[in-house]
Amino acid sequence: MSIDQLAETARAMVAPGKGIIAIDESSGTIAKRFAAVGVENSEANRRAYRELLLTTPNLAQHISGAILYDETLRQSTRDGVPFAKYMAERGMIPGIKVDKGTHALAGFPGELVTEGLDGLRERLAEYARLGARFAKWRAVITIGEDMPSGTCIEANAHALARYAALCQEQGLVPMVEPEVLMDGDHDIETCYEVTEVTLRALFDALYNQNVMLEGTILKASMVVPGKDCPEQAEVEEVAESTLMCLKTAVPAILPGIVFLSGGQSDEDATAHLDAMNRMGPHPWPLSFSYGRAMQQAALKLWAQDMQGNWQRAQQVVFARARANGLAALGQWDGNA
Ligand code: 13P
Repeated sequence: MSIDQLAETARAMVAPGKGIIAIDESSGTIAKRFAAVGVENSEANRRAYRELLLTTPNLAQHISGAILYDETLRQSTRDGVPFAKYMAERGMIPGIKVDKGTHALAGFPGELVTEGLDGLRERLAEYARLGARFAKWRAVITIGEDMPSGTCIEANAHALARYAALCQEQGLVPMVEPEVLMDGDHDIETCYEVTEVTLRALFDALYNQNVMLEGTILKASMVVPGKDCPEQAEVEEVAESTLMCLKTAVPAILPGIVFLSGGQSDEDATAHLDAMNRMGPHPWPLSFSYGRAMQQAALKLWAQDMQGNWQRAQQVVFARARANGLAALGQWDGNA
């Protein structure tokens, strides 16, 4: 796979007015999401729910691709069409989560490092055969007393860069995700500082591992105050702080940046993205790769009546895709 092909895929992931739907919850995470709405965490329910999302009529108008979980990439629609094939036939790019989740960072109580590098080359080769064209790895940075440590930032940046280099070797576009968590009572300035340090460490590590930025997508968290911070920020402040932080730390050659929603409300996630794009032009397309902010309303509806609410839930998925697609252009009309 040439860098030109990787760059083409990366550009298609952030095509104007389009973004990514993240449906790559691991079996443990989807168990939590299902439990919250009273759905049994069975293989059949996970398959049906992912089918609902991926077969939303006209989804490709606003969605360029989806991040799947290992199990989902091996599943099919009820008619027996593998999800990856179903997506590709409709112009949506299949992606795959390849990290093996976060684990305690030894020697640094309360901090996490993402694992999954062992055997990754072989897993990536298999995912590519199954139709995946990009891959995601999520690192988690926690803000707290004396946290994050430099060691935590370095360890996670190093793993992200090793993963990204392997992805490009195997012909997959790496989506590198260093998520600075919203948990805590820290203010927006603290989030800014931590995000800046994290991004600088990440791009240093990518450079050191010979990762080609033209074929890489950044999945970033927005610069926001902690969930428990008494002083919450206005939409404009979040947009301005996030833009400033990205412009200072992210090379302009990157083909695109997508955001995670990270526990923001649906409306906030859309409003923040829209506000940033209204402040453009920027060096890169800014779009979305939302999980919860794309899914939570639809999941609630489906859980109430799996058969009866199928279509209504899909209409809600489409509405979220449309709102976020417009926000990616700075043209959101206020309908969440
Ligand atoms: P949220 O948008 O729910 O944060 O999920 C996006 C994601 O893929 C996190 O890794």
